[in-house]
Amino acid sequence: MTAEFPAARPRRLRRTAALRRLVAQTSVQPSDLLLPMFIKEGISEPRPVVSMPGVVQHTRDSLRKAAAEAVEAGVGGLVLFGVPAVKDARGSAADDPDGILALALRDLAAEVGDATVLMSDLCLDEYTDHGHCGMLTGSGEVDNDATLERYGSIALAQAAAGTHVVAPSGMMDGQVGAIRAALDAGGYPDVAICAYSAKFASAFYGPFRDAAECAPQFGDRASYQQDPRSADALREVALDLAEGADIVMVKPALAYLDVITQVAAVSPVPVAAYQVSGEYAMVEAAAAQGWVDRDRIIDETVTAIRRAGASIILTYWAAELARRLA
Ligand code: PBG
Repeated sequence: MTAEFPAARPRRLRRTAALRRLVAQTSVQPSDLLLPMFIKEGISEPRPVVSMPGVVQHTRDSLRKAAAEAVEAGVGGLVLFGVPAVKDARGSAADDPDGILALALRDLAAEVGDATVLMSDLCLDEYTDHGHCGMLTGSGEVDNDATLERYGSIALAQAAAGTHVVAPSGMMDGQVGAIRAALDAGGYPDVAICAYSAKFASAFYGPFRDAAECAPQFGDRASYQQDPRSADALREVALDLAEGADIVMVKPALAYLDVITQVAAVSPVPVAAYQVSGEYAMVEAAAAQGWVDRDRIIDETVTAIRRAGASIILTYWAAELARRLA
C-alpha cells in the first residue's frame, strides 16, 4: 500500500446492508418511545390538529382505542395532555378529580393498566384562560410560588387517577421538589417525576399550541422557559435531580442535540428528549410536498436524538415507528 491507498478503509464495513447492521452503534427500540396524546373534553368525534397532520384531539373513546393500538405496537408509554372545555385564571380543571385528564387517565388505567407507562403532562397552560403555565400576579407576571401550590394539587389529582409518572413542563423554579413533597405527603411515594428540566422557550412549540389550545393570550414564555442562547441546562438538571427527579428531559430535541449530549454525560437518571410539534410539522409539511423522504427523515432524526444520548424519546411518530421497528 502506498500513502495514496491506505490500508484502513472504512468503506469495507459499509459494503452490504448486513455489514452496516452488524457495526451499527445506535439502535432505537419501540420501548424507548413515548407517544404524546391529546384528550379534549366535550367533543363527540376526534378532531384533526391542522398544523400536525395525522395527530388528533381525542374523545375518550378514540383515546382508549388509539392507546390500545400504540401499546400493541410496542411503544414504551403514553404521555397525556388534557384540553378542558372550560378554562379560568387558576386552571381549575387541571386538578378537578372529574376533569378530562383525570377521566382519561382512569380510562387508560382500566384499558391498558400496567402493560404500559402512563405519563401525564403536569402544567397549567392547557387549563388557564390566559394560556400561561402558572398563576398570575396582579400585574400579569407568572407567580412562581403560587404556581407551585397548584402543581402539587394537580400532581395529587393525576396520581389518584392512576398516572405512573407526572411530567411537570412549566419550568417553575422548585417545581420538582414541590411536586415530590405533595406526592409523598399525599400517599403517592411511588409515582415518579419526569422533569422537563431543560425546556427552551422555542418557536418549535407552535403547532402544539393549536393541539392543546394553550397559546399565551399575552406575552410569551421567555420569563420561565430557558433562553436558547443560555447555558443553564446543566444547572437546571442538577437542581431537578437534587429535588428528586427520576427522569430528566431536554426539549425540543433536534435543535438541542448538544444539550442532550451534555446532560446524558452527567445524568445518573435516564435522559428523555422531546421531538416536539414543530419538528413533526416541518417534516410532515415538506413530505406532503414530496420534497423529502418522510420515513427516512423520521428514522434519521430519531436515530440522531438517540445517538446524542437520549434513552427515552417522546415523538408523535412513536406508534408508527414502533410498528416499523418491530
Ligand atoms: C406546556 C407544554 C408545551 C409543550 C409540552 N408541554 C407547550 C409550551 O411550552 O408552550 C410542547 C410540546 C410540543 O410542541 O410538541 N404544557
